[in-house]
Amino acid sequence: MCGIIGVVGDTDTVSTLLSGLERLEYRGYDSAGVALVRPGETWRARCADGTESVAALRRACDEAPAGFRSGIGHTRWATHGAPEAINAHPHLDCSGHVAIIHNGIIENHTELQEGLEARGHVFTSVTDSEVLAHLIEEARGRGLDLLDAVRDALGVVRGAFALAAMDATESDVIVAARRISPLVVGTAAGVTYLASDVPAILDRASAFYAVNDDEVVRLGPEGFRAVDLEGAPVRLRQLAIDWDLETAEKGGHDDFMTKEILEQPDALRATLLDRRRPDGSITFDELRVSDDELRAVKRVVLVAAGTSHHAALVAKYAIERWARLSVEVDIASEYRYRDPVVEVGTLVIGVSQSGETIDTIQAVREAKRRGARVVGIANIVDSSLAREADAVIYTRAGLEVSVASTKSFVAQVAALELLALRLAQLRQTLAESEIDALVRGLGAVGTLVEKALGRRDEVAALALALLDARDFFFLGRHVGFPTALEGALKLKEISYRHAEGYPAGELKHGPLALIEPGVVVVAVATDLALHEKLLSNLAEVKARGATVVAVATDDDETIDSVADYVLRVPATEPMFSPMVDVVALQLFAYAMARGLGRNVDRPRNLAKTVTVE
Ligand code: AGP
Repeated sequence: MCGIIGVVGDTDTVSTLLSGLERLEYRGYDSAGVALVRPGETWRARCADGTESVAALRRACDEAPAGFRSGIGHTRWATHGAPEAINAHPHLDCSGHVAIIHNGIIENHTELQEGLEARGHVFTSVTDSEVLAHLIEEARGRGLDLLDAVRDALGVVRGAFALAAMDATESDVIVAARRISPLVVGTAAGVTYLASDVPAILDRASAFYAVNDDEVVRLGPEGFRAVDLEGAPVRLRQLAIDWDLETAEKGGHDDFMTKEILEQPDALRATLLDRRRPDGSITFDELRVSDDELRAVKRVVLVAAGTSHHAALVAKYAIERWARLSVEVDIASEYRYRDPVVEVGTLVIGVSQSGETIDTIQAVREAKRRGARVVGIANIVDSSLAREADAVIYTRAGLEVSVASTKSFVAQVAALELLALRLAQLRQTLAESEIDALVRGLGAVGTLVEKALGRRDEVAALALALLDARDFFFLGRHVGFPTALEGALKLKEISYRHAEGYPAGELKHGPLALIEPGVVVVAVATDLALHEKLLSNLAEVKARGATVVAVATDDDETIDSVADYVLRVPATEPMFSPMVDVVALQLFAYAMARGLGRNVDRPRNLAKTVTVE
C-alpha cells in the first residue's frame, strides 16, 4: 500500500506535495519521491531512508528550482523491488519527460517489460510500476495526448492501480486513473489535487470527489474531466467531507480498528494478487527458496506470537491436509528455549505482522543456528524478520495501526494457505484441478468477508446485550479452534473481559467445571463436518446454565436448537472459514470494548510491536 499525491496550478507545489506525503506516511514510508513538471522540464528527487524517507525528501527538495506549478509525489510500501531510492517513485520514461507514480500491483509487469525492452526501452528500476512510464511514452509517441495515452497503456495492464502521470511536453496536466487502489480528486480556486486518501489534501481542497474503478481523470488548474477506459465521459461522485484531520486519517471512522476491519477484503485481494504464473503455478516472487528445496522439505515448524500464532495454527491444518507434510506450531518464546530438534529437511516459518517481534526473531535465529531453512511471513517490507529469514512472503495488508491485529490475521492465513497449496503443487499431493479450484476459492474469500462485514449492526447489538458478562469461553473444532483462540484474544485485549479459547472437545476434561449461569460460551460452529459433536458440546454447557452464542453459516438450520444467539456468516470451504468467521468475532470484541468505553486502538498495557522479551 503506497501513498500518492498530485497538484496542478499551485503556487506552493513543493510544500503541498511534502505535507501531503507526510500525511500519507501511514500508507508506507520505506522510500519517497516527487517530480515537478513544467514546459520542457521535469525535476525529480527520490529518497530511501527507512522511516525517515519523507523527511529526507523534504531536505532534498531544498534544491528544487522555484516556479513549478504542478507536480506529483509518492511514499512507497515496497511490494516489488527493494526499498531503495532507485526503486522509489516517480519513475520516468526513456525521454525523461513522462513521470508516473503508482499504488498497486501490475500483475503482468514481467511480460510487458520484456516487450518494452525488446522495443528498445531501458529500465532503471526493478519495480512493476515502471512499465507504466514506458507504455505511456510509446502511446505519446503515436501522437496520443496524455489522457488517451494513459487509457491506451491501461488497456494492456492487469492488476491494481492508482496512477498519476505527467509529461513535460503537456504541462500543467496530470492524468490519473484507478482500479482497486483508492484515489480521490480535490478542487479549490484555480488548483486541482489528487491523492490516495482525503487526509493528504484535506487542508487545501474545498471539494472532494471519489474516482471509481476504471475511471481516468484529466486534471488541470481550471478543474478536471473524467472518462471511462473507453473514453466516454463519466461524473465523479462528490464526497461529503466534514472531517478533521485525525478523523480523515481513520478514513472517516472513529478509530483505526474499524478502518482496518473494513479493509480486510482489500487486504486479502492485495495479498493474493499476482501469485500465479500463466501456467497455473503458484509463485512468490520474493520467496528466494528453490522449488527443489521446497520439495525436499520433510517437516514444517511454525513459530509466532499472539494473533500470528493463531494464523500459524490454521496453517498447520492446511499444510497437513493439502501437502501431507508433518507440521508443528510453537509459541515463539517457548521454541527458542526448549532445545528444539531440527533435522535435515526442516522448514521453519516465522509469522509476524510487524516482522519485529523479538520472540519470533529470536526463535527464527535459533532455528537457523540449528540448520533449518527459514521462511518469513511479514507485513512490513525489509523488517528484521524479512532480513533474518532465508526467504520471505509478504502479506500486503497495508499498515496496521491499531494494536489489535485484524486485517493482518486474514492476510497471514491467506498467504500461509497459498504456501500450503504451493507445497502441495510441488509434492503433487493434490491434482492441479483441485489446486486450481482452491486457489480460485481463496480469491473469492474477500467477497465473503464483505458479506460478514455487512452484519456489523447485528453483531454490535448482541455485544451490547451481553455487556455485563464477565467470563467468556470461545470454542471451536478443527480450524474453528484457532479461530476461537483469535476471538478470545480480541475480546480480552480490547475489552479487558476475561476470555479463553478452547478446543470444544476439551471442555469436559476440566474447564466444564467453570461453566455456570452468567458465563458466555461463543462457539465457532461453521464446520458442518464436525457439527454434531460441537452441538453436543454446546448442549453440555447450556445444560449448566451458560449463555450460548454461535457463529454459524447462513444455511445452518440446526444451530438454533442449542444457541441462544446466532451470528450468521456466509458458508465457505472449511479451510477458508477462519478468514470469514473471525470477522464476527472481531466485530463482537470491538462492540463490547466500545460499549465499555475502552480505547480500542491503544488498549492498556499493550503495544503494537513487542520488541522486549
Ligand atoms: C494481536 O491483536 C496483538 N496485537 C498481538 O498478540 C500480536 O499479534 C503479537 O504481538 C504478534 O505481533 P506480530 O504479528 O507483529 O509478530
